[in-house]
Amino acid sequence: MPLVPMRQILDEAAKGGYGVGAFNVNNMEQIQAIMQAANDTNSPVIIQASRGALKYSKMIYLKKLMEAAAEEFPQIPVSMHLDHGNSLETCKEAIALGFTSVMIDGSLAEDGKTPNTYEQNVEITKRVVEFAHPLGVTVEGELGVLGGIEDGHGAGLSDEEVSDHLTDPKQAEEFVQLTGLDALAVAIGTSHGAYKSGRKDPKTGEVLPPVLAMERIHQIHERMPNCHMVMHGSSSVPQELVDVINQFGGKMPGTFGIAIEQIQDGIKHGVRKINVDTDSRLAITGAIRKVFAEKPEKFDPRDYLKPARDAAYEVYVKRMNGFGQAGHATDYTGMTLDQAKAYYK
Ligand code: G3H
Ligand code: 13P
Ligand code: ZN
Repeated sequence: MPLVPMRQILDEAAKGGYGVGAFNVNNMEQIQAIMQAANDTNSPVIIQASRGALKYSKMIYLKKLMEAAAEEFPQIPVSMHLDHGNSLETCKEAIALGFTSVMIDGSLAEDGKTPNTYEQNVEITKRVVEFAHPLGVTVEGELGVLGGIEDGHGAGLSDEEVSDHLTDPKQAEEFVQLTGLDALAVAIGTSHGAYKSGRKDPKTGEVLPPVLAMERIHQIHERMPNCHMVMHGSSSVPQELVDVINQFGGKMPGTFGIAIEQIQDGIKHGVRKINVDTDSRLAITGAIRKVFAEKPEKFDPRDYLKPARDAAYEVYVKRMNGFGQAGHATDYTGMTLDQAKAYYK
């Protein structure tokens, strides 16, 4: 199956009442692990690359790897998505490369740090939609600002500021109408990375779960039952993965993630795309550290990259089952971009 437009994957997910994991990749091992997991669980899937990933992989390598993935597993609907595009130019570049879906993160200015005004966000998102839809390419936009700056994204806001920047359901309705986007990323208190909680018990110092404004998702879904929502910063940061890292020489105290149950609640209320990067990074790092610690004589990269790929695979299988996409790959035939062009007309 050729790479399919993400819109189709999300429309089918809405029909089936499930969510689809959008997994960030930087290399061959992650792509192979995702595709093996999608094959073994019969899942449609979204593979996404950030601007950092494109730079790291020199673009063409990632594109060819994703094409290979689609070719190896022709029965799996897979979209190639640009994560956190910062400008029309970046989105154009990804589309020229063959991406079937782009995110324009108009919540932030081109620097990826300064919050944009609502009007600026509408303007840039609309321009990307006007460029992408005639080519059959899906567009994800974002309203509200995510917390967290540790991975180079987000506005670096304090907890108080984050709550001021949550997605407003009424504004969301207007934003979707004005821009014509396909998927709306919402800010509900999640953040990128492994440290999603800014809260500690004042007495014990214990890290407390992040507070999520799930009611915003419920309200948006009530207003727009057909709107596909996206949850960013949705790694669960399993303690057992962090423990492996710490056991073998890592130093990651005070991590916290998003519980699968909360994501499942979102899925019941219109969340169709769930962004996961950190969990794969944790699994890979733990597996490599373990080999280095237990077998210090090893120096063939395959001796640690294979366990790393296996560990990432386990994460993807769990997420595909948890989000409900498992079993749905063969429900439908993938659409081409030409067919998607007709859809937008
Ligand atoms: O959007 C955040 C993803 O985790 C990608 O992170 O920019 O370090 O590749 P990155
Ligand atoms: P995590 O850092 O929680 O994996 O989120 C990734 C993400 O939102 C990519 O856009
Ligand atoms: Zn994100």
